[in-house]
Amino acid sequence: MKALIDKLHQYNNLSGGEMLDLLENLDEDIRKYLISKAHETRVKHYGKKVFMRGLIEFTNYCRRNCKYCGLRVSNKKVQRYRLSFEQIIATCEQGYRLGYRTFVIQGGEDEFYNDDNIISIVKKIKTKFPTCAVTLSLGEKSYESYKKYYDAGAERYLLRHETASEELYDSLHPGMSFRERVQCLYNLKEIGYQVGAGFMVGLPNQTNRDYVQDLQFLQELQPHMVGIGPFIPHKDTPLAKETRGTLDKTITLLAIIRMLLPEVLLPATTALGTIDPFGREMGLKAGANVVMPNLSPVEVRDKYALYDDKVCTGEEAAECRECIDNRIMQAGFETDMSRGDSIQWERR
Ligand code: 5AD
Ligand code: SF4
Ligand code: FES
Repeated sequence: MKALIDKLHQYNNLSGGEMLDLLENLDEDIRKYLISKAHETRVKHYGKKVFMRGLIEFTNYCRRNCKYCGLRVSNKKVQRYRLSFEQIIATCEQGYRLGYRTFVIQGGEDEFYNDDNIISIVKKIKTKFPTCAVTLSLGEKSYESYKKYYDAGAERYLLRHETASEELYDSLHPGMSFRERVQCLYNLKEIGYQVGAGFMVGLPNQTNRDYVQDLQFLQELQPHMVGIGPFIPHKDTPLAKETRGTLDKTITLLAIIRMLLPEVLLPATTALGTIDPFGREMGLKAGANVVMPNLSPVEVRDKYALYDDKVCTGEEAAECRECIDNRIMQAGFETDMSRGDSIQWERR
């Protein structure tokens, strides 16, 4: 197994068979070795920097019905909210004062906002804060819509592929299709965005073979960012009684992704921080190099409940910033408040 990890570390590549072999045969020592090699890779490309993104969850309305997600349209227990244009801009202002230079505008697939609304939000942020990057995360849209947002100034887009196993994808997403998801990701790349894909770990019936498909999908797509986190059940969804994804598996996959895509921007996600008090720190030590503290107004925080027990929901933006800063330092890393563009994208 060590030889496989060395190969992965040196060539940033493994065949599907080798990936499966690795995933099936990890004992504690091998895992430690894998994590140390991932850390080496991260230090080589990014040093000990951790990039900070200010996350603004601006609407929890969603027309989709993903079986795992607390915001699914069938969940009538959610108190829905939308931030107004002014609230969004005020939240960015506060984030700017705290030092953030990337804003992630994330929401459910909410048809209340048309393309012109999104464009005015993007334009306003870009004119008010010309040194900041705008990342959108609004789900599936047409090529034309993505292009318009890009032309308005948005430079990054997050759209997790959720799982690259087509059968599993289609079973979890009523009325959606994996092929359309993939098409969206390729459209975003073609337009010129820095693109973030990603998947959940520990979904019901997900196997190592499925993770191999995820890894191969990432190798093919070559995204600039990859968001992965454990699946965590939400009490008011059809998957309420399922078991959550594990810390170990998520960390293992982060480490492998760091070596497969050595320059990728890889967040230590909130979901990882939710299943273990030191989950994000462990992620950082296994190759993750981004954190996305929540800037949304505290009154709406707990309403953006994708899963149960989400961390940071009670904290003010400034408190969350301080908390995460300390955690990053304690773990032996340095916060980097710059825009933190993908190295690969800067070289284009
Ligand atoms: N557990 C973990 N992650 C989830 N997401 C949605 N619901 C859950 C859940 N129950 C993730 C999806 C989505 C991202 C915003 O949150 O991957 O893309
Ligand atoms: Fe909507 Fe995203 Fe939740 Fe699916 S995962 S129901 S698209 S918010
Ligand atoms: Fe958000 Fe600690 S990181 S409160």
